[in-house]
Amino acid sequence: MESQQAHRKDEHLSLATATYQRAHQHHYFNQVRLIHNALPEMGVKDVDQRVQLADGLQLEWPFYLEAMTGGSNQAAKVNRTLAQLASKHHLAMATGSLSIALKEPVTQSSFTVVREENPDGSVIANLGADVSLDKARTAIDLLGADALELHLNAAQELVMPEGDRDFHWLDNIADLVEKLDVPVIVKEVGFGMNRTTIEQLQGVGVKLINISGRGGTNFAMIEDRRNHQFDLDDLASWGQTTPESLLEARGSKATIIASGGITCPIDIIKAGVLGAQAVGVAGYFLNILIRDGATALDEVLTEWQTEIPRLLTLLGCRNFRDLQKTPFVLQGDLYSYAQQRHLI
Ligand SMILES: Cc1cc2nc3c(=O)[nH]c(=O)nc-3n(C[C@H](O)[C@H](O)[C@H](O)COP(=O)(O)O)c2cc1C
Repeated sequence: MESQQAHRKDEHLSLATATYQRAHQHHYFNQVRLIHNALPEMGVKDVDQRVQLADGLQLEWPFYLEAMTGGSNQAAKVNRTLAQLASKHHLAMATGSLSIALKEPVTQSSFTVVREENPDGSVIANLGADVSLDKARTAIDLLGADALELHLNAAQELVMPEGDRDFHWLDNIADLVEKLDVPVIVKEVGFGMNRTTIEQLQGVGVKLINISGRGGTNFAMIEDRRNHQFDLDDLASWGQTTPESLLEARGSKATIIASGGITCPIDIIKAGVLGAQAVGVAGYFLNILIRDGATALDEVLTEWQTEIPRLLTLLGCRNFRDLQKTPFVLQGDLYSYAQQRHLI
């Protein structure tokens, strides 16, 4: 019999799929248009798709499997398959939050399977931003993790009946960044970030920030479906979209990572044009895995890894960072947002 927290992990997997269509009804990257370059003056063979991020974090590809799961039998199966595919495609992979593994050691194998299946790949551990230094070290050691993600999820917690109601994270983040031996990425979980948040994080020494914006997996919808006490569905449209958050982050000295609603290679390219140095993908890959199976996800990953170097070539970019020189225009709501926030 699995614990209540393990059951919650299973609910997240099934509700991420059940809410997928509604959560993805708007594709906010459509409001970013790239300007075609008719003279690339390079070939696909000239592309180096690897990315070098702050604190020595190097990825073989500019996209990776973003934090999703761990903590139940079903989560172990999902993690095993994802890790096998991450290994095959040389993609980095973040696990879901390890807080359950620290509380219920019996669940640890549902996380360590990620390292077992991918002994030489990049594995990223994930924990809440209030975790103690000791626990963070334990989680990193458990996975032999190459980096640690600390998630900021105030909106999610506030919709959860059993969630936290008090959020003081900045001092702890500063302490962890200073004392941990691996790169620390501070991430949202799909509500985005504004310029002040990004500056505050940078101000306490954070060098890697994943703005994880709205437009994909929506934890207000997911937790609202779990919450039988109140209806908090009005938070479904809360937060900054991923393109809005990337505009908020422009000019930041931190390494900016994007996630939230990435569903095709051109989204990855657009995120790069808006300033992301790497891109995480969670819900889209999970939905394919659960709906169509591992072979289908394997094929999608092959397609993406074929298309990304071609898109970089089309824009005359030899590497992902070069994308930041690509001209673009913003349309509709996104343009209005950028103007009102004085971001362009
Ligand atoms: C089933 C599921 C579980 C998730 N669990 C975590 C988690 O434990 N920690 C975390 O930082 N983010 C978690 N996320 C959020 C993702 O890492 C990501 O920030 C968010 O889903 C937006 O990306 P997407 O639209 O590509 O899904 C989870 C996402 C999904 C789909």
